[in-house]
Amino acid sequence: AYTLKDAAAATGRVFGAVVPAGLLGDADYTKALDQEFGQITPENEMKWNVVERVRGKFDFAAADRLVDHAESRGMAVRGSVLAWHSQLPGWVINIGSGAELLTALREHVAGVAGHFRGRVDHWNVVNEAFGDSGARRNSVFQERIGESWVEEAFLAAEAADPTAKLCYNDYYTDGSGPKSDAVYGLVRDFVARGVPIDCVGFQGYFNSDHRVPADMAENLRRFADLGVDVHLTELNVTGSGETQAKAYAVAVSACLAVPRCTVITVGGVTDKYYWNAAKTPLLIDADYGRKPAYFSVLDVLNEA
Ligand code: G3I
Repeated sequence: AYTLKDAAAATGRVFGAVVPAGLLGDADYTKALDQEFGQITPENEMKWNVVERVRGKFDFAAADRLVDHAESRGMAVRGSVLAWHSQLPGWVINIGSGAELLTALREHVAGVAGHFRGRVDHWNVVNEAFGDSGARRNSVFQERIGESWVEEAFLAAEAADPTAKLCYNDYYTDGSGPKSDAVYGLVRDFVARGVPIDCVGFQGYFNSDHRVPADMAENLRRFADLGVDVHLTELNVTGSGETQAKAYAVAVSACLAVPRCTVITVGGVTDKYYWNAAKTPLLIDADYGRKPAYFSVLDVLNEA
């Protein structure tokens, strides 16, 4: 196959990208998006500070534009994110009572997942609930609601959209280690207690300090063995040239080695608009040229 989405589809997988709504009017950008990718993850447009900046007043204008674009091209949509400690509006941070914050969380999830019911195939329900040590991250939710905030978000998402697949999503969990073990423990516990969870997202941020771990396939497999799908959700590798290409090939190969690794999403379409402007971590360069990393990923997919 000659495009990422077609090559991935031939293996039974979806190849997606993180996309900001602001670029949908840019013809060069949408040409590359529509050609290469089969799934859209809204970059910021579904986050709490955008969709519910004022309590109870939902604004889905930007997110709807992304979902409309995806639907008109037959692309899937990964919703992101229902509950996250970052990009929260001030009113959420200022809720002092745990009971009140839990009510706000439930209403938020019901409002957002309910609005997109039937149009979002996967939700990142919760992002980044753990710190690198494997302990729960000290967030407003953790502090005021306690441990149960994560499952509360999943239960609310299940109620709001019973058809969407519900995922936990985190970074630096790609290989084994304390943080990955903690997420594994959470998923195992959810499965054992019947808390709804269908998938785990591995963000896949790689650089010279965080190389693609040698045990990535093994780590993905242990999660899959719990009965959940596994996804690479924001894959990106800093650097350039053959070094970058090689790292991408290793990460994508790890996914291809695991049948339940069904989605590969890169952190953006082109380096031109990567949110961290100092970096060039994507597959397509700022002039829409296909990089060595692009061809290495395409080759690995075509060889699978
Ligand atoms: O909307 C404001 C705009 O009004 C203002 O003029 C401008 C000035 O800086 O900032 C704009 O907000 C930016 C926002 O993106 C929208 O463009 C924020 O500063 C910027 O911090 C924010 O960055 C996002 C980042 O999350 C925040 O942590 C990135 O776009 C987004 O790609 C990134 O994504 C997260 C994933 O959701 C979860 N995994 C980690 C990843 C990095 O944090």
